[in-house]
Order: sequence, then C-alpha cells, then structure tokens
Amino acid sequence: MRVFITGGTGFIGRAVVEALTARGDQCVVLSRGGASVWPTLAVRMIQGDSAAGGPWQDDVGSCDAVINLAGEKIVDPPKRWTRGRKKLLWDSRVFTTGHVTAAIRRASTKPRVLLSGSAIGYYGNRGDDVVDESRPAGSDFLAKLATAWEHAALEAQDITRVTLLRTGIVLGAGGGALEPLLRLFRLGLGGPWGDGLQWWSWIHRADAVALMLFALDQGLPGPLNVTAPAPVTVNDFAAALGKAVHRPAVFRAPRFALELGLGEGASALLDLQRVVPKRALTEGFRFQYPEVPGALREIVGA
Ligand SMILES: NC(=O)c1ccc[n+]([C@@H]2O[C@H](COP(=O)([O-])OP(=O)(O)OC[C@H]3O[C@@H](n4cnc5c(N)ncnc54)[C@H](OP(=O)(O)O)[C@@H]3O)[C@@H](O)[C@H]2O)c1
Repeated sequence: MRVFITGGTGFIGRAVVEALTARGDQCVVLSRGGASVWPTLAVRMIQGDSAAGGPWQDDVGSCDAVINLAGEKIVDPPKRWTRGRKKLLWDSRVFTTGHVTAAIRRASTKPRVLLSGSAIGYYGNRGDDVVDESRPAGSDFLAKLATAWEHAALEAQDITRVTLLRTGIVLGAGGGALEPLLRLFRLGLGGPWGDGLQWWSWIHRADAVALMLFALDQGLPGPLNVTAPAPVTVNDFAAALGKAVHRPAVFRAPRFALELGLGEGASALLDLQRVVPKRALTEGFRFQYPEVPGALREIVGA
C-alpha cells in the first residue's frame, strides 16, 4: 500500500511511518522542511506546507490511503494561547485537512481511506462521565477546534472511508506530553497537577500506531477513540510515573500556577475527559499496553 502522510515527521507520525515501512508499505511524507529523516527508499519526502495547499496535493492521488496528522503543538510551554497562536493551532489543522480533502476530491484515482487527526478534546470537560464515541462535542476552544477539524475531514466521506482519530494523550519515549514530565519526575520534582482528580486518558504510542494501522486495514469509518481501556486520574498517573522512575511524586502544581504560566492553554491539562475506546474493543483490537504501570515501565526502561 502507498500511504500519503501529513505530520509524518512528528512524534506520532514518525512511529506510523516506521510501522508502515516495517510491514512493506510505502510512504509519501509531506513536510515543511522536506529533508528526509529516513534512509530508505520506502519513504519519499516532499516539501510543502499542508496548511497552505500547493503542488503537494497532486501526490495525494498517487496513494491508496492518507493519514493526516499535521498540526501546531497544542501545549508548547512557554507559548500561551494568544489570538495569533489559537489561529495557528486552528489553521494548521482545519486548513490542512481542507486541502487534503480537496486533493482527494480532485484526484483521478481516489485514495480508499483517510485517517484524519482529531483529539479527545472534542468531548470538552466531562468530569467523571465515561465517554465513548457516541458522546457529543463540548463547547470550549479545543472542542470547537476538533469539531471543525473533523468536519473538514468529513468533506471526503462520500468518496472515501474517513476515520476520525479522537486521540488521547500519547505516551512514548522521546517526545509528546511525557518528555517534559519525565525530566521533572527523574529529578524528584514531579507530582500531580490541579486537584489531580481529573481524568488522564492516555495511550502508549505503540498501541496508538497499531490502532491506526488496524483502522487503515479494517476500514472503520466514523469516530474512533484512540485511548487505552483504563484511563487514570492525574493523581494515579503521577504516582505510577514516580514509581516507574523510582522517585517520590509529591510536588503538586496547583491550578493557579498552570493558569499563570499557560493562560487559557492550561485547560488542556486541567479540563479533561474519562475516555474509553469502545469502538476499538468492539472491533476486536488487542491493546499491548492496557494499564498505565506497564506502559510507563516499558517507556522508562526504553
Ligand atoms: N501527541 C499527543 O499526545 C496527541 C494527542 C491528541 C492528538 N494529537 C494530534 O495528533 C497529531 C500528531 O501529534 P504529534 O504529537 O505527532 O505532533 P508533533 O510531534 O507536534 O508533530 C506535528 C507535525 O505537524 C506538522 N506541523 C507542525 N506545525 C505545523 C504548522 N503550523 N503547519 C503545518 N504543519 C505543521 C509538523 O511537520 P513538519 O514540521 O515536518 O512540517 C509535525 O511533524 C497532531 O495533530 C496532534 O494535535 C496528538
């Protein structure tokens, strides 16, 4: 299979490209930089800005499937959610996805599948509710962004199978949300944040990638929660991370400190959801890391 990928140079995208090429698929990776990070003929890099559209769109029609993961980082301290930054978060996802679906529509041979990025922020702040794919969208900024991102992807749903990847907090070595936390926890300076009772719907990166490939192969149109079956509270997550690195995890970062540092962006760490991967489980997907202690042990030992 030949797969076109936006965001293929990122924390999740790199692992997706590696998994696809390991099983013999070919990848066409769009990047603003364009320099190849893979010394293999199975990966072709093309230079272009997904949010702006351009000649790269012609390459979409040469592929059997598209995986759309591009987007400016949501939490990137010390950057605050100014109006300009919120526009960048929005445009890098919604415009990118619009250009991807426009390219699919005008391709003479249409890709059969589009896996398009979304996030569990779609559901908004849900407290202790157990959230599966049937739950409606929330109303905060991240929920509105995810809704617009999904709508842009669904522009292609009459001609290709569109899976909406409602992705949780992806845990892996060398990037993502865990990297800055690990630095603190290894120094013994880690601990929970906020009241710690909010839910942390995580997934090991290996499972996130495997679930994406499962959706690619099975064809699962519609929303798909890309999260582990056992979400934990932030208190439990911090305790498990402390245990994994053999350090105490007692330094709590209070809500006001996060809000002072990150402004509205602190909501991405505080206003969370207890998400379950109902569809993945119903479809028979097997998680390699269903529980957070095992996932963290694997990552920290890596
Ligand atoms: N990591 C998580 O825990 C998580 C959770 C939920 C959802 N997601 C979503 O999944 C996707 C991939 O996440 P990730 O962690 O792999 O992200 P990442 O490491 O930040 O990579 C994002 C990719 O998007 C491209 N990109 C960044 N800013 C851009 C911009 N302004 N315009 C166009 N392209 C831009 C970059 O490609 P180039 O620099 O090569 O152009 C980069 O490779 C994102 O859309 C993210 O919102 C991630």
